Order: sequence, then C-alpha cells, then structure tokens
Amino acid sequence: MARLKVAVLISGRGSNLAALIEACAAPGFPAEIITVISNEPDAYGLKRARAAGIAATIVNHSAFPSRAEFEAALGEAIRAAGAELVCLAGFMRLLSEGFAREWRDRLINIHPSLLPAFRGLNTHARMIEAGVRFAGCTVHFVRTEMDAGPIIVQAAVPVRQDDTPETLAERTLAAEHRIYPLALRLIAEGRVRVVHEVVHIDGAAPAEAVVLNPLEA
Ligand code: GAR
Repeated sequence: MARLKVAVLISGRGSNLAALIEACAAPGFPAEIITVISNEPDAYGLKRARAAGIAATIVNHSAFPSRAEFEAALGEAIRAAGAELVCLAGFMRLLSEGFAREWRDRLINIHPSLLPAFRGLNTHARMIEAGVRFAGCTVHFVRTEMDAGPIIVQAAVPVRQDDTPETLAERTLAAEHRIYPLALRLIAEGRVRVVHEVVHIDGAAPAEAVVLNPLEA
C-alpha cells in the first residue's frame, strides 16, 4: 500500500522529528517523510534530516516582508514536495487562519501539555507553579487558535515533587517521542476521523490513543 507522504516542519533541535524518522524507518510503517522544512537556518533538525537522507530545506521567515508571503513560500515548498500531511514538530511560528484552513485536518502539532490546559510557551514551569500532579503532551489537529484543535493522542506524565522545568520537560519529551509516531500511524492507517471537532479512531482498542507514563523506579 502507498505510504502517506509527510512534510515535517521544525524550528530547532528536532528530537520529535528524529522519533518520526525512526518510526518511518520501521518495515511496514504506513507513512514516509518526504521533506523537512525549517524556518530557522541553523536548526539542528536539518542535520538530522539530511543524515537520514531526507530532503531538508529552509524557508526563513525573516527573509519575507510579511507573514502572508512567508506562508505562501512555506505552502509552495510543502506542495512541491507532494506532501499529504504536515506535522509541526517544534515549529515555533504561528500560522495564520488561511494556512490552517487550507490544511484543515491535514495539519497536526505536538504540544507539551495535556491540552486544553497550558497552551502557549513555558508549559513546564507554569505546570510546576500551578501544582498540577499530571503534566503530559498532546498531538492534535491544528485550528486557528494557538495550541487548539481536535485531540488525537495524549500521554500523561506524573509531576514529581522535586521536578524542575528541565526535568519535567525531559520526561515529557520521552512521552512526546512515543505519541507522535503513534498519532502519525493512526492517521496514515486512515483510522482517524474528526466528527464535530472530536477525533474518532476507527477500530481502536479502548486505550489506544492514551499513553500513561508510569512513575519511573
Ligand atoms: C517539544 O517539546 C514540542 O512539544 C514543543 O517544542 C519542543 C520541540 O522539541 N512544541 C511547542 O511548544 C509547540 N507549542 P524538538 O525540536 O526536540 O522536537
């Protein structure tokens, strides 16, 4: 069966990109990454992509006079590659309503919190300050508001008494690396439907879209 063609958009380190590359390399995985695009010329993720033999390009936002022109170039690069799905993986530019509309239900993002709680930046520090007992991460379809849209997969990550934003981020990242490939697989298998802005997964086992990260020993 033809594999789903995926574009991954990054801005930095690209550890989620690496998790997706690894998943796609497994025999029988139903998706393939055909291009990686970074808005930051120095993003380390570009090196990871090239090392894996994936075409990697830069669409530098600061080289464009407006967001509309940046997004037009971005859209052009995605379409030219022939992508059917776009994965935002630490892509730190807000996308406009028009872009989200054009790619509706074909554009997904990973965010380091249990959405709809803790949208935005500095999630780990804000969660520790709020005293929540569970942090986590979410893969969701992108809508026009930031870090919002139908939830595909979530992982819960317990917060420890002695956590710092750094230790919590590190533990959450390990969960991100599990759920992003899981969400991609479910979509590529054609099992994900958005019904009234809620995701239904065809034939899913009761907890297939839930990942619990037990407290480490
Ligand atoms: C990840 O923790 C991702 O969830 C977060 O940026 C990091 C990127 O790391 N994304 C957001 O905060 C989006 N709102 P990575 O470059 O190593 O994948």
